Amino acid sequence: MQSNSVESNSFKLSRRQFLYAGAAASSLASLGCSSSPVSTQTPSVATVDTTEAIPLNFNENPLGLAPKAQQAVLEALPNAWRYPDAARSDLMATIASNLSLEASQLIYGNGSSEVLKMALDALVQTNTQLVMPDPSYGVIIDYAMARGVPVVKVKLDGNWQTDLATMKAKVAAHNGPSIVYLCNPNNPTGLLLPQSELNQWLDQASSQLSFIVDEAYVEYVAQAGFVSAIERVKQGQKHIVVCRTFSKIYALAGLRVGYGVAHPELIKLMQAQASIDNANLIGCVAAKASLESQQWLELSLKSNSQARALVYQQLTELGLDYLPSETNFIFHKVNGDSELYMQRMSKAGILVGRPFNHGEGWNRLSIGTPAQMQYFCKTLAKFRELGWV
Ligand SMILES: Cc1ncc(COP(=O)(O)O)c(C=O)c1O
Repeated sequence: MQSNSVESNSFKLSRRQFLYAGAAASSLASLGCSSSPVSTQTPSVATVDTTEAIPLNFNENPLGLAPKAQQAVLEALPNAWRYPDAARSDLMATIASNLSLEASQLIYGNGSSEVLKMALDALVQTNTQLVMPDPSYGVIIDYAMARGVPVVKVKLDGNWQTDLATMKAKVAAHNGPSIVYLCNPNNPTGLLLPQSELNQWLDQASSQLSFIVDEAYVEYVAQAGFVSAIERVKQGQKHIVVCRTFSKIYALAGLRVGYGVAHPELIKLMQAQASIDNANLIGCVAAKASLESQQWLELSLKSNSQARALVYQQLTELGLDYLPSETNFIFHKVNGDSELYMQRMSKAGILVGRPFNHGEGWNRLSIGTPAQMQYFCKTLAKFRELGWV
């Protein structure tokens, strides 16, 4: 124990030295974006806070709000005494236009977590079961349990892939309606679901088989041939809800903005489950400005893929398996006790993901800035020297 804490002190010290040595400051330059569009008031890869642990545990965008979104927040602040109706309508109209949807196919959520809740409440009937992959994003489990809806968790297959065949079998075996929750790409694996098998199943949606498809990380997906479940809604499917969020690439996790896409009839049922005025003015204007910040989004993607490549390289050098990620996090092997690994990283000044069901010996790492990931890589190499991974 004694030697661990000595280690952790030296980690903290070296982190400060490392960052102050200019590695962080050079990150924007290495991305080819040293000045514009980053303004001086913008938190960026060049201004890492060295007094706090590096947060690589919640899959947030480390570049923070787009400058235009910050500006929109400042400009809206004097109007925060007004109800948010106009700002929400404005945002929803922009989303509708960007995605070629009707406003009636969209619903606002206080984060996509609220959309998940509204979807469950709207879809649940007598004797409904919820079927979902395990591990996956688990908030819907709490909602289901609070409503007395039994949850059937289907373990990921041997390749960490969502096991659609077994999920289908669970649906077929149930005497009653099923709601299927799918996360695409899945959290914590970062893997996309098999597209054609997914499409075929989604096309079978009915009053007895409805789908909630969580696309929280969709903006990071680079794989050719990916098709959002929103296409099924556009084709008229009545029993599919797609959940999206501004908490990830748009960096608005603290402002709570999400939305759902579904058939207008289902949207109406969901709306009945929403609390009145669940939107907030500041979140709405920031989200709209974020949608108009294409350059910032491209910078975020570029930063994410550069930082991710650094981690891949380090994991490969250390012989630690990882799953190729379509997101801003990497699920990778750490060898040994996942909980202990998390604690040791925390002592080294890095917050990494918690242990997941069936993921013993693995960890989910959110992608920070390239500078943060360089520090993470050095730390991981040190862990190897100590025999910890
Ligand atoms: C897959 C997934 N869905 C939904 C959420 C919740 O996002 P929000 O902040 O929009 O509620 C998260 C948050 O981490 C997530 O990983």
